[in-house]
Amino acid sequence: MPGLSLPVVTHVDLRTPTTLTVRLLPGQILADLTGDLSRLAEGMGVAAVRVRPFRHGWVHVLLLPADPLAVTIPHPRPVPDLERGVYLGKDEDGKSITADLVTGAHMIVQGATGSGKSSFLYSVLGQVASTPGVRVTGSDPTGLLLAPWPSLELPGPALGTSDPAAHVAVLEGLVAEMDRRVALIPADHDSLPLGADHPAVLVVLEEYPGLLRLLDAVDSKGLGKRIRAAVARLLAEGRKAGLRVIIVAQRADASIIGGYERGQASHRLSFRVDSVDALRMLHPNATPDAAGDHSTALPGIALLSAPGMPLTRLRAPHVDYRTYTKTIRSAGTR
Ligand SMILES: Nc1ncnc2c1ncn2[C@@H]1O[C@H](COP(=O)(O)OP(=O)(O)OP(=O)(O)O)[C@@H](O)[C@H]1O
Ligand SMILES: [Mg+2]
Repeated sequence: MPGLSLPVVTHVDLRTPTTLTVRLLPGQILADLTGDLSRLAEGMGVAAVRVRPFRHGWVHVLLLPADPLAVTIPHPRPVPDLERGVYLGKDEDGKSITADLVTGAHMIVQGATGSGKSSFLYSVLGQVASTPGVRVTGSDPTGLLLAPWPSLELPGPALGTSDPAAHVAVLEGLVAEMDRRVALIPADHDSLPLGADHPAVLVVLEEYPGLLRLLDAVDSKGLGKRIRAAVARLLAEGRKAGLRVIIVAQRADASIIGGYERGQASHRLSFRVDSVDALRMLHPNATPDAAGDHSTALPGIALLSAPGMPLTRLRAPHVDYRTYTKTIRSAGTR
């Protein structure tokens, strides 16, 4: 067509997945091609299209016959020591995605009911059940996720809804532990060295919005306000004291997890969520296309924002509750 210039396909590799080598137009960048990939996939008659950088001015366009994440991942291996990352899942290229317990900060996990949040947490917590130098505690109004965890030398876990004030007491107790640890940070360190004396503490807040609703409804002695203050302090100062908060919510609404709290989380995961707004809350850079696709994601498929990597689609392992409780109980109290 005269006057119309288009990117040029210069090579086609017919192995699976079919890969087109495309020369971009001057000034065009990869992001110019990633806006509407689901329409392109439909037009090409494939399950999905992915665009990957190739070399300057060129991209590879992959035509995927099936969703690369349509395979269930079994229970991952235990994490042998603190230095080893926790396996979060595998990305579309089959690469393992891990999170470092030593350098990482906090995590927010959101997703609609049945989208795979609990299974993901069973996987993460199961991996560290027998890791020396790691403790798990927190607040769990569902009384399921943290039920198998023994109460050791740290406050918590607080379980169920019969005693809402117990959740506040646990989180305020953890703030006190954080303050105690901050005072122990050696003069030449900016954070407390972690190990047997000072284990990394995973503070899990399962169904955190539900807990806030419960506390606001009870509203005795400003419990809602107190727990928000405690969580804000753990998020702001916990990292250097070895406390890592994991917030779990069906939707990381601004009213529940403010911009400040979101900013403190190094890892943000969204399983299926129903709206672009919910997704953008944790991943401001998600394209409308990625957001649209994700509203129908299968259980266990999540989008991850983490330091030093682009927005990544991953599949989390599938771990059922029985396997999880058995893993924790057989690890004992260490
Ligand atoms: N990684 C996964 N791979 C395959 N299937 C999964 C995966 N995660 C979850 N599922 C399936 O989805 C179901 C719901 O998952 P899960 O209980 O983890 O959801 P949830 O987000 O915690 O929901 P709720 O908000 O209701 O607690 C599981 O029973 C399982 O069948
Ligand atoms: Mg759940």
